[in-house]
Amino acid sequence: MSKKFICHAAELVTCRGKAPKYGKEMSDIGLIEDGAVLIEDDKIVAVGTTEELSSRFNLSGCEVIDATGKTVLPGFVDSHTHFVFGGYRADEFSWRLRGDSYMSIMERGGGINASVTKTRNATMEELVAEGKDRLARMLEFGVTTVEGKSGYGLDKETELKQLRAMKELGKLQPVDIVSTFLGPHSVLPEYKGREREFIDMMLHEVMPQVRAEDLAEFADIFTEKNVFSVEDSRYYLNEAKKMGFKLKIHADEMVQLGGAELAAEVGAFSADHLLKASDQGIADMAKAGAICTVLPATAFCLKEEFARARKMIDEGAAVAVASDLNPGSCFTNSIPLLIALSCIYMGLSVEEVITALTINGAAAVDRADRVGSLEPGKQADIIFLKYPSIHFLPYHTAINLVEKVMKNGEIVLEK
Ligand code: NIG
Ligand code: FE
Repeated sequence: MSKKFICHAAELVTCRGKAPKYGKEMSDIGLIEDGAVLIEDDKIVAVGTTEELSSRFNLSGCEVIDATGKTVLPGFVDSHTHFVFGGYRADEFSWRLRGDSYMSIMERGGGINASVTKTRNATMEELVAEGKDRLARMLEFGVTTVEGKSGYGLDKETELKQLRAMKELGKLQPVDIVSTFLGPHSVLPEYKGREREFIDMMLHEVMPQVRAEDLAEFADIFTEKNVFSVEDSRYYLNEAKKMGFKLKIHADEMVQLGGAELAAEVGAFSADHLLKASDQGIADMAKAGAICTVLPATAFCLKEEFARARKMIDEGAAVAVASDLNPGSCFTNSIPLLIALSCIYMGLSVEEVITALTINGAAAVDRADRVGSLEPGKQADIIFLKYPSIHFLPYHTAINLVEKVMKNGEIVLEK
């Protein structure tokens, strides 16, 4: 058995809990000064002050990791990404800088459909190689669990190829991957006006295979004007639920359609984006306990107004913050950028954004029982920051402070 003792952390953030934190609870991150963590193999055995643990446990034979002057936190959970895709769309970014809108580029054949062509043309090996590199970049930012979606295939073969690539990646590198099926991500021209047929094709021809190979836990849909309506989304999500999928929704991103209300109605784990979510939608989500996943880097890159995360928390909702890494609307997985935008533009405190990136992110991907906090029984997924306080996270603006990452009890990255 391997035993490790992390000690003398200037600030140890526990985020203790096995469920999402709602409203005011998001401010309670369980901070311990001169903190320590005892680890056996891949699991946390005890958390407390260095003095407490030193007196309670026999530490002989432990590998000691001195965290003097450092902040120690649970590994971050990036609970919404599209990190497996073929090709890039740098041209679209320059068009947007010129003033074109995301939806107008999509309507003239660019956007998601452009990535569909490139992803169909990519081999499984290429998707795995690129995906592996992206996961390594995430780990540098302290991300130890990530959600990834399909949705750049829109046909059986390519949707399965994306999901199989993610399954393979789970075996090749340390970051844990939670997979989401997002077949209804866009409508190809041949399906315009026949969206329900497209959804039925996904439900009957693709998703049974996804279940059979255990390729995705969640089902997601892009509910948006000129993409999938609320009625089609309701139908898809309810059918997916019957098949055993947990639910997520890309909701109220560009137009207020009622995606947040739908998330509450169908019992989704989360609704994501929510830039235009209505007061009613936010209230419904808070009442239903569904997690509001906000993606501030996407709003930033699209020059859209940020989601009303402050209001969501004040209304008692649980908020998660995630990157949305994808080849179009948001080609960044920068956690420091997310922290800066959350604190400076969305009005979150440092404590709230830490909760949003740890235990609430874990809850949004149904992993709050095993990651997202530092407490006995959980996976030893732990990150070490260069500075002695959480307050350096927004203050050293958009700079990566992660010096060391432990995954399942092993140091997997050290600067
Ligand atoms: O979450 N909004 C829909 N889907 C993605 C964008 C995908 C893309 O532009 O390729 C998102 O932002
Ligand atoms: Fe997305």
